[in-house]
Amino acid sequence: MAPVVSGFSKLSKADKIKWLAEHHFGNDATATDTLVTYWNSNEQLQQLHDEFTENTISNYYLPFSVAPNFLINDKRYTLPMTIEESSVVAAASKAAKFWQRRGGFKAEVLSTIKVGQVHFSYHGNPEKLLLFFSKIKSKLMSSASHITKNMEKRGGGVKEIELRDKTAEIENYYQLHCTFETADAMGANFINSCLEQFAKTFVAEAQEYDNFSDSEKKIEIIMSILSNYVPECLVTASVSCFVNELPSTSELSANEYAKKFVRAVNIAEIEPYRAVTHNKGIMNGVDAVVLATGNDFRAIEAGAHAYASRNGKYRSLTHAEIKNDVFSFSIEIPLALGTVGGLTNLHPLVKLALELLGKPNAKKLMEITAVAGLAQNFAAINSLITTGIQQGHMKMHLMNILNQFEATENEKEQLIKYFKTNTVTHSEVVTQIEKLRAS
Ligand code: MEV
Repeated sequence: MAPVVSGFSKLSKADKIKWLAEHHFGNDATATDTLVTYWNSNEQLQQLHDEFTENTISNYYLPFSVAPNFLINDKRYTLPMTIEESSVVAAASKAAKFWQRRGGFKAEVLSTIKVGQVHFSYHGNPEKLLLFFSKIKSKLMSSASHITKNMEKRGGGVKEIELRDKTAEIENYYQLHCTFETADAMGANFINSCLEQFAKTFVAEAQEYDNFSDSEKKIEIIMSILSNYVPECLVTASVSCFVNELPSTSELSANEYAKKFVRAVNIAEIEPYRAVTHNKGIMNGVDAVVLATGNDFRAIEAGAHAYASRNGKYRSLTHAEIKNDVFSFSIEIPLALGTVGGLTNLHPLVKLALELLGKPNAKKLMEITAVAGLAQNFAAINSLITTGIQQGHMKMHLMNILNQFEATENEKEQLIKYFKTNTVTHSEVVTQIEKLRAS
């Protein structure tokens, strides 16, 4: 077992690696070599990455891919996608190509309001608290003016502060429920700074408030933090076409395809076991764009799944229907995204990703990202109701297996050719590699 270490963060990068090699890798040089191999030879760039977080010892690469042919609100986009899962980008590209010949995707931001809360305890008369709040509300707002000034210039700011009585659920528990507009920033720092200022002012004003008894004056702030549940930071995207424009084969007519597709989505609307996987597929597309554009995919994930259960039951984020021979498929998803601040100005690939998208503002990025989710879901359901998911997955996975076996370029060429007409399974790939090598 590795010993307890103190002051680790203060060690140089080389010493951190030395410590790891000694205590975790039995001084095996391979571990050190692997870490060093992934350093960037451009020292400035490496330093930038080192400073993103603490204790950075190397870089962890993910593929930076692109999916072209996305027609969104009549404009063509090439989407940047950062994801390790082999079939996601191919699926997105396929869906994009399919829908660009059928009018493309339509997308619209419905609202952009974000939320933050000051959670506190108050021991006293709730009506007195309400009266106190109404008296100091404008002071609360103005106390944060040094923080909100710049945001207001960009069209954002604090929208509303509400006092919420939560004592029915937890004794003496109240909230300042605050709403914000953060323009093109994701706004986490802005919101949290405002909340901490509100909390400070709230406590100070309570101490000076003559109407409060001594115990009422002692408001205890439990915490001040933004919420990643953003049901009012919402975007919708959709596609539609005549049923007879949908894929058809000798086994499945376009009409049958449409009905089967709608049924597959209906299942995800009532069955949580399916809904979670269905939404996971949506998030394959969403996260890939979110990550490529330097946004916080954990926040997006948390908010999307919470939204999927907003009615008390976890369900699909997409919806499909057939009306008057028209098939339509749509998504509604909360996406608190930013195109300024955070990594957007720092990470060279994030900058490039945003440039690739034509430097979108936050709303446009919300639309593009929702489309990525819808496209991914379309591609997944398309495979599921026709060939099954494994055919495409294993084709893409073939390269991973070949790399695992360190196949040469010549071996790869021959095996890719072989698996064009044969089913890819892990054991079949191994058999074929062995056969090839034995000959
Ligand atoms: C795999 O990453 C995603 C799918 O399972 C999504 C789905 O089942 O809808 C293919």
